[in-house]
Amino acid sequence: MFRRLAISFGAAASIILLIASLVIIYEVHYHLMMFEEDVKGFGESSALVHHFEQALLSSIIWTAAGSLILVAVISYFVAKNLSRPLVQMRKAAEKMAGGELEVRIETIGNDELNDLGTSLNELASQLQKQEEARKTLTADVAHELRTPLATVKSHIEAIEDGIFDPTPERMSGLREEIDRLIYLVQDLEQLTDMESPQFTLKKESVNLGELLLKNAEPLKASFTQKGVLLNLNTQGNTVVEADPKRIAQIMFNLMSNALKYTPSGGRVNAEVFEEIGSVVLAVKDTGIGIKEAELDRIFDRFYRTEKSRNREYGGSGIGLTIAKKLVDAHCGDIWVESKPGYGTAFYVRLYK
Ligand SMILES: Nc1ncnc2c1ncn2[C@@H]1O[C@H](COP(=O)(O)OP(=O)(O)O)[C@@H](O)[C@H]1O
Ligand SMILES: [Mg+2]
Repeated sequence: MFRRLAISFGAAASIILLIASLVIIYEVHYHLMMFEEDVKGFGESSALVHHFEQALLSSIIWTAAGSLILVAVISYFVAKNLSRPLVQMRKAAEKMAGGELEVRIETIGNDELNDLGTSLNELASQLQKQEEARKTLTADVAHELRTPLATVKSHIEAIEDGIFDPTPERMSGLREEIDRLIYLVQDLEQLTDMESPQFTLKKESVNLGELLLKNAEPLKASFTQKGVLLNLNTQGNTVVEADPKRIAQIMFNLMSNALKYTPSGGRVNAEVFEEIGSVVLAVKDTGIGIKEAELDRIFDRFYRTEKSRNREYGGSGIGLTIAKKLVDAHCGDIWVESKPGYGTAFYVRLYK
């Protein structure tokens, strides 16, 4: 780059000098000839003309030589200055490719080179963020897998060593642990699916009220079994453009949470109602509630409140993350209101 610039500068300067010299020599010679013709008897002083031409030629040669050196020196520095940021960027890009994502390019001023530098810096910080997210995800997944796997392993070892009898309860306990692992893997699959660039919604006109009634059906048995009352309610025109499968997923995640975190004897109200310009889904329970300090963290990946970390509730902590991502994909809003000991209400608003 630098060499190419220097060569182009040098070549342009030499060509200009050459043309200028030729023109000067030709013009001077031509005019002197005319002068000789005009002024008779000039022949005697032709030595003067000769010396004059000689002086002119040498001064042109010296000027040309001096200018060429000057151009060479100037173009060397100009080219070096121009190519320096490019060289710096190339080096930075090579470092980034090698995994050193903390490198940044110095950007001063606001020309195109600087814009390029800024873009490269942004690229690096995006890559850095993704890399960090990937690391935490891997660490979290490893952590989530470790506990159930360790439990299953120690139980099986105890059974093998004859310390534990493989009673039906123990076996079903083991199966539950394995189920938990399966759910975790399914949740993770969904989450990756949603985060992939290929993720798209298959939108159509959906009646959210009807969808709620339909999707609550298979859950009714679990509610009855636990002794939690499920009330369903829908009001107004609840048709919106949405992906029915994804909305069903949101409803399932919210309702199964409500069931999970509501003790028997409690109640869950799931409703869909029309508001001006939007449709709202509300899932309200009379369950254990969530502390205010934890409210804004429950949508985080793997986050579970202190209370729900024990075996009794133990989920993966991904259900709400998935729900939020799906609501975001629909450009809707999701929020929660809760009072520990009294209950929790989750709301989803989708715009018409
Ligand atoms: N209806 C609810 N009542 C009380 N706490 C809830 C409710 N829904 C969610 N939570 C809290 O939010 C956390 C995250 O929810 P979620 O992402 O669905 O994970 P989990 O797999 O634990 O259900 C839960 O662990 C629980 O602590
Ligand atoms: Mg859940």
